Amino acid sequence: MAPTIKVDKVQENLKTKLFGKYMFFSREVGSTNDWAKELAELDAPEGTVAIAETQTAGRGRLGRKWHSPKGGLWFSIILKPNLKPTETVKLVFLASLAVAETIRELYSLKAETKWPNDVIVDGRKVCGILLEMKTVGERVIYAVIGVGINVNIDIEKEFPRELWEKATSLEVVLGKKIVLETFFKALLEKMESLYQVFLEGGFSPVLAKWKAYASFLGCEVEVSSGDEKFEGVALDVNGGGALVLKLKDDTVKHVFAGDLSLKIKGC
Ligand code: ATP
Ligand code: BTN
Repeated sequence: MAPTIKVDKVQENLKTKLFGKYMFFSREVGSTNDWAKELAELDAPEGTVAIAETQTAGRGRLGRKWHSPKGGLWFSIILKPNLKPTETVKLVFLASLAVAETIRELYSLKAETKWPNDVIVDGRKVCGILLEMKTVGERVIYAVIGVGINVNIDIEKEFPRELWEKATSLEVVLGKKIVLETFFKALLEKMESLYQVFLEGGFSPVLAKWKAYASFLGCEVEVSSGDEKFEGVALDVNGGGALVLKLKDDTVKHVFAGDLSLKIKGC
């Protein structure tokens, strides 16, 4: 059977300088993040992409399993920014902004960003980002941005029941399949142009756009980390990427993504 995505079609007339110039495709891998790291160790240049039709060991944040059946866009991109690790982690916002904006521009859907690493459509998760880095002291040797997008996926057929309320796909919301190559090409172009903005203009312009699409600001949220839970109103995301939370007793708390999960309780 033909692959669900043809890399040469993505690269045809691709208007990027770096992103996707080198692309490695496989029908099946464990995790594209692991594959991209192996490529980075072999000195693959910045912008190199590892993409797979399915992943057998796709992973999300907090060591969670990431379901990666055929029809999704599962890829990782290698970046080598001349930045400190605390700055490099902000690439998560850049990636989720790029996904949300591409979905908005191509399919006129109200894609929203959710702190720290999700893109939401119709109140359900359509995309997650997993950023991993190799550092030596304060120097980033490389970063791998892993992006998982539920594109042409029948959620009820492919995902376990406990995810039916939490996850969605572009096919489910649009009621039709989309051309993966068209979407991926536009996404790579968007990611590269935002990467330029980030390197030249800093995090502020990226964060401002990301916040404009954020679905949870002003809402009541619950932030949990292991057994610890905080409830409050999500006031802002600050220039460090931390969530600014007003707790029930009116104190203000800054929380960093780390091992945290965010649930929107009401707006
Ligand atoms: P996070 O903060 O890491 O995004 P979450 O708890 O906010 O997690 P939910 O939207 O509540 O996420 O639930 C989605 C759950 O389903 C997460 O645990 C996510 O890792 C998992 N999941 C696994 N595969 C997929 C997928 N392909 N699409 C969406 N969610 C998935
Ligand atoms: C999350 O929401 O927790 C992050 C999910 C990240 C999934 C992508 S799919 C491509 C890349 N390879 C992986 O194993 N994970 C990321």
